[in-house]
Order: sequence, then structure tokens, then C-alpha cells
Amino acid sequence: MSVRPRASASPLFTPHRTDRRTNRRAKAEFTAAQAKARHATRPETRHTVTGPDPELQPTYPAAGRPGPASARGGRLKLPAHRMTTAVASGAYPFLAEGGLGAQGIYVGQDVHAEASFCYDPFALYGRLEGFTNPNILLAGIIGMGKSALAKSLALRATAFGYKVYVPCDPKGEWTVVARELGGQTIALGPGLPGRLNPLDAPEKPYGISDEDWTTEVRKRRLLLLGSLAKTVLRRELHPMEHTALDIALDQVVAYTQQTGTTPLLGDVAFVLGSPQHLDAATGESSGRLGRAAEDLAHALRRMIHGDLGGMFDAPSTVRFDPSAPMLSIDLSRLGGTGDDTGLVLAMTCASAWMEAAISDPTAGRRWVIYDEAWRVMRHVALLERMQSQWKLSRGLGIANVMVIHRLSDLLTAGEAGSRGRALAEGLLTDCSTRIIYRQEADQLASAATLLGLTGVETQAVAALTKGRGLWKVAGRSFITQHLLHPAERTLFDTDARMHAKDREFEYFEEGS
Ligand SMILES: Nc1ncnc2c1ncn2[C@@H]1O[C@H](COP(=O)(O)OP(=O)(O)O)[C@@H](O)[C@H]1O
Ligand SMILES: [Mg+2]
Repeated sequence: MSVRPRASASPLFTPHRTDRRTNRRAKAEFTAAQAKARHATRPETRHTVTGPDPELQPTYPAAGRPGPASARGGRLKLPAHRMTTAVASGAYPFLAEGGLGAQGIYVGQDVHAEASFCYDPFALYGRLEGFTNPNILLAGIIGMGKSALAKSLALRATAFGYKVYVPCDPKGEWTVVARELGGQTIALGPGLPGRLNPLDAPEKPYGISDEDWTTEVRKRRLLLLGSLAKTVLRRELHPMEHTALDIALDQVVAYTQQTGTTPLLGDVAFVLGSPQHLDAATGESSGRLGRAAEDLAHALRRMIHGDLGGMFDAPSTVRFDPSAPMLSIDLSRLGGTGDDTGLVLAMTCASAWMEAAISDPTAGRRWVIYDEAWRVMRHVALLERMQSQWKLSRGLGIANVMVIHRLSDLLTAGEAGSRGRALAEGLLTDCSTRIIYRQEADQLASAATLLGLTGVETQAVAALTKGRGLWKVAGRSFITQHLLHPAERTLFDTDARMHAKDREFEYFEEGS
């Protein structure tokens, strides 16, 4: 029986006189080969990553947000509705945020609008409704890229002429950044050569009278001594103790003015520890002031002979260079034992020294970054100092950045209603920008309450990936992917290997 050649659109050659089965098989093989060839030449569209960084995954799968709110189940059937385009533009519900404008530091991508996201707290001030201060709170679990974001903001801010100060760097990870930018780093710790005298008098700003300035410097020194004593004693000071501090400081200052030296903590502790000096100054001889000052003298002793001995009781080994783009204080050799009091005392001294140097209102705009600030949140005296800095931020042109892990870190400062708690919550209120990186599931509720997050925002926070955060800027919300330049990536890498290399470098420098 002859087989009729079939007319086919396929270019397959089927020889005459083959049976039907052979014919079918040849055809099937050809189709399979054709499909294979097609597959081989086609680029793998479905598996490629569209983001610039293969490690960064999208927040939502391509099918959209999971759950009924995605409206992608095909079950949403609405009657057709006609309107003019003018009305439609107002009525269309699925709109993305317009962004904060192009002014400022490039941060990365606004995930919903797929536009560039730029941010500058100084540029937004006065332009955005409800944006009352330039301070930033940055919260998120470990390893999500909080420090990387803070470092990027700092590094990119220097391009705008802003200066950056890092008074709290308990991991010592800002040293490389400061070095790369041509800035200064002061490493403090037992056995290190760095010394800071927290009683250093800052340069007198232009246009302030000598008398006003002397009063201001005295006030700051008293505030610092009070903070140190409160941190060690873990209580408020009594009125007599305030008087004793007052008198001791005045005596030391009078003496150093005669000798042309700078006052040191050790001098103050010496006067506090010698009742005859205190009594002589008040004209009393009952010895009451001397007795009242005993606790203070012992509290300050820790800064002189204790674990922090030497570090803050000698003339500063570094001069503050106001033209340096970045200054960081490496506190990584302190507080490793689990007791953070040493770290807090060091940070109090370091920040007082730095504040003295940066309090000049004519010095331009500056960023002050407290990395790993959660470690010091429990200490009320330090919170007080931070709060006064926060309040001054607008007048001095300073944007403070506080980096913590979870929002409940703010609640560790004390019981509800206590002064510590009020101070911590005040700091939160004084941050017009809150950047929330991923939070643990058990933290979501407290984050939502403290920040007033909506249900959708709370869900989004739980699903955030590395470098991606919910930015709440004065009531407006953005999900932003922070993008790192390859050079920044190498510089900000905080993994163990990189860290080990840095340490070697530092020890080498010190030894040489
Ligand atoms: N946006 C980002 N893109 C790519 N890598 C990032 C990004 N943010 C952070 N990383 C990397 O993730 C690691 C951890 O980041 P880090 O900032 O130290 O986290 P955290 O301070 O939150 O603990 C770093 O090695 C950093 O280089
Ligand atoms: Mg970090």
C-alpha cells in the first residue's frame, strides 16, 4: 500500500514509502529537537535577577504580595466604570509615592515607584510638612545593613561638604571609612596611646564675648562631671554633691589658669577627695561638704585609677581638626566584658570632647552618628546628654543618627513613666526620619505601636531583605532599597575576615 505524502507546514523531509509509524516517530523527534533548539537560543528570562545585586531578592514574588490583599486571584469582579482621565487620575487607587524629590544624597531605589530615592534632612527641613528636625532613627536586626546605610549616608554626605562625626563606634568598623576619606580616628582602650581630655575647652566661636564663653565652658564641664558621677553611682546627685563638684571645678580652673595648664579629671578628683580644700572654699569648717563629696571622689577614681585609668586623665593626644571630613572614636577595646559602664563612661567623655569641638554654629552642617547605640540606651545620664544634643540639632545644623536593633531598645531605659523611659521616647519623637529594617516577628507589635505603622507596613517590615527598609519621613512612607557601589561594598564589609585584616593593620601602625 502506498503512503500518500502529507502536505505539512513543517520543513520536515519525509521520504516516500515509509510507513506511518516511522513517519510519526521522525516527526516527534523533529518537534523535540526544534523545542530544544528554541530553548537553547532563548535567554533565561525567568531566572535572571533584575536588581543590580544578585544577593538582593525582591520583597514580594513576581505574583505579587501573598494573601487576599494581593487582588490577583482573578476573583475581583467589578462592574465597568467610565470616567474622564482627569477623574481617573484622582480615583485610581494603586498609586506609588512620588518620592522626596531629586535633591540630596542618593540612597538607592524606591521599590514601589521604581525611581531613585534621594534624601537630605537639611534640604527637607521647611519643605516637608511635619518635618521638624534632621535627626534619624535606624532600627533593624543584625546583619541587615544598618551600618552600611549609615556609612553610605556619611560617605556620600561628604560630597555635599557635610562633615561627619562618629562618637560611638563600639565595633571599630568606622576606622577604615574615616581613613579612606582622609579623616581622623582616635582609638581608646587599655594600653592604647590615645588620650582625650574631656575637660578641654573648645575654641571660642566667633562673635561671643569672653565672659559668656567662660560661663558656657563651665556649664559644660559641670554637666560632664555630673554625667560621669551619675553613671558610676547609678543615681541622681544630691544638692550637696552638686555644690562640691562646682567648687572643686572652680578651684581646679583657677589653679590651672595660674599655671597655664588645662584642667584634668584627676585634679577635680583630688580636690573632691580633700575636705580641707572644699571647706576652705566655702568658709565652713564643719566638714559636711567634704563628707558629702566622698562618693563623688570615689566615682571619679574609676576614670583615673580604674579600668579607664589614663585614657581621660591626661592632656589630649589629638587636636581636633575642624577641616577633616570625618572623625570617629573607636571604642572597640572597651566594654567587651559584658559590663557596658566602661563603654558608657568612655562615650560620655568622647562625646563631650567632640561636642565641645562641634558646637560652633558657624561650622556648617554636620552628621553625628551613634552606631550600635542600643548598648548605651540603658544609661540615663548618657540619654540626657544625647537629648540635649538632639534639641540643639536644628540650631547647630547637626543631623544625629541613632542606630539600634529593635524599637524595644528604647524601652530598656526604664519602667513606664520613669525619667529614662521619657528621655528615650523623647529621642524617638525628635527623629523626624525613622528607618525600619527587618524586625523579629515578636518585635513587630511593639514597633507598630511605637511608630504607628499600618497593617500593610508592619507586614512589609517582617519581609524586608538586606539593605531594604521602610523609611518613614514625617508621616510619608517609602520602601527603599539601599544600593552600594562596589567600592563601598568592599569598604563596608563587616564580615570576620575583613575585620581580622583591619586589626592587624592597626596593631602594625601602633607598634611602628
Ligand atoms: N545594600 C546592601 N547591598 C549589599 N550588601 C549589603 C548592603 N547592606 C549591607 N550589606 C552587606 O551586609 C553585611 C552586613 O551589613 P552591616 O551594615 O554590617 O549590618 P548591620 O550593621 O545591620 O549589622 C556587610 O558585609 C555589608 O557589606
Ligand atoms: Mg552594624
